[in-house]
Amino acid sequence: MSNKMWGGRFASGPDAIMEEINASIGFDYRLAAQDIRGSRAHVAMLAEAGIVGREHAQAIARGLDQIQGEIEAGTFVFSRSLEDIHMNIESRLAEIIGPDAGRLHTARSRNDQVAVDFRLWIRDTVDDLDLQMRDLQQALAERALENAGAVMPGFTHLQSAQPVTFGHHLLAYVEMLSRDRGRLADARERLNECPLGAAALAGTSFPIDREATARALGFDRPTANSLDSVSDRDFVLEVLGAAAICAVHLSRLAEEIVLWVTPQFGFVQLSDKFTTGSSIMPQKRNPDAAELVRGKAGRVIGSLNGLMIVMKGLPLTYSKDMQEDKEGAFDALQSLSLCIAAMTGMIRDLAPDLKRMKAAAGAGFSIATDLADWLVRELKMPFRQAHHVTGSLVKLASDRKIGLEKLSLADMQSVEPQITQAVFEVLGVEKSVRSRKSYGGTAPANVRAQAKRWVAKLAKEAAKAG
Ligand code: ARG
Repeated sequence: MSNKMWGGRFASGPDAIMEEINASIGFDYRLAAQDIRGSRAHVAMLAEAGIVGREHAQAIARGLDQIQGEIEAGTFVFSRSLEDIHMNIESRLAEIIGPDAGRLHTARSRNDQVAVDFRLWIRDTVDDLDLQMRDLQQALAERALENAGAVMPGFTHLQSAQPVTFGHHLLAYVEMLSRDRGRLADARERLNECPLGAAALAGTSFPIDREATARALGFDRPTANSLDSVSDRDFVLEVLGAAAICAVHLSRLAEEIVLWVTPQFGFVQLSDKFTTGSSIMPQKRNPDAAELVRGKAGRVIGSLNGLMIVMKGLPLTYSKDMQEDKEGAFDALQSLSLCIAAMTGMIRDLAPDLKRMKAAAGAGFSIATDLADWLVRELKMPFRQAHHVTGSLVKLASDRKIGLEKLSLADMQSVEPQITQAVFEVLGVEKSVRSRKSYGGTAPANVRAQAKRWVAKLAKEAAKAG
């Protein structure tokens, strides 16, 4: 049988393999709610503009309501021979209301239809992700406030660099997530234009009201160029770009958790809720959730990459290649959502071992910079010279296998005679972090203030969102 949606010039149906490669219903069924929303707005506008009769429009709207009910109830039968969600719904509408269903597709093409559906879906998803990211920020900021003064090693090159506080470390991720949310918000603002009414590619001869459909669907305005409207997938690329960056942030935090829970680091423990055991090694407690967050970043980045490659060679306007825009985006954004949820759970769950963190904070001569700074401040030494003197003292302590603070005053003076007993006042990890009072620095008072600011700001946002 030839296709009932466009059968006019076709004598036979598609080859089985053609149907298989062509069909998108296996994944674009997820656009059902958005497709119905778009069709409702379109038919209401058609009636308002006198393009479709009132009774016909009402019958179509009622049919769409019924279809929505069937989809929600799980009784709607999706058919691969009908290719995609648009034709599945339109065909069902014809079953319900008869040939007048065919009036819905006046002044519309599947090209602008899929563009509007997918924009709506992306927009809905962006809104959900933003809420989830806010939750994760909240979890991080609360734990940061709790641990504003908890000393841990700060690393560069994964070598002990200078002591910092655990709260400070967690707040670094709150900042990252704030930029992630900002990127999504930017993308949302740019994508919030309505392509419906661009029709196949050139616009339409019917006197449609694109402002009205844009408004009805919550868009700021209609898109201005019909060719661009049906060939643009920037709205997917941008959101995937923002998602990929966020996934990278989560992956870095996941990697840190994986390190921190090793017996070697022992900085934090995850409870049984977020770990798994080994089937052979009874002692094991594996941070699988963190590893999977790290792993899934690859999928998100891959989807962005995949769609970039799909789009790069396409001439204007729509090409069927563009049907490949969906699965990767669905997978990536669903994966990201899962990663954010798992990370939020782990952050709330983890128990820091403050003693171990503090002990590790002093390792590797992490207070050497404090000593050098003292020489600059108290002895008015140029920093480069202070660096050199401190280096010699580190070598002395290292040879004796003791910390800098364990050197005697005589040892210190053997390298720099002007050093006084007062130097010992800066030689301790707590003293070190307390001294880092510069704006954005790790001093517990700073961290507490920043954490409080975030907790209050996020609570306010949550209250406003209701
Ligand atoms: N299923 C198609 C897609 O996802 C809908 C648009 C089809 N348009 C067309 N002219 N064949 O891209």
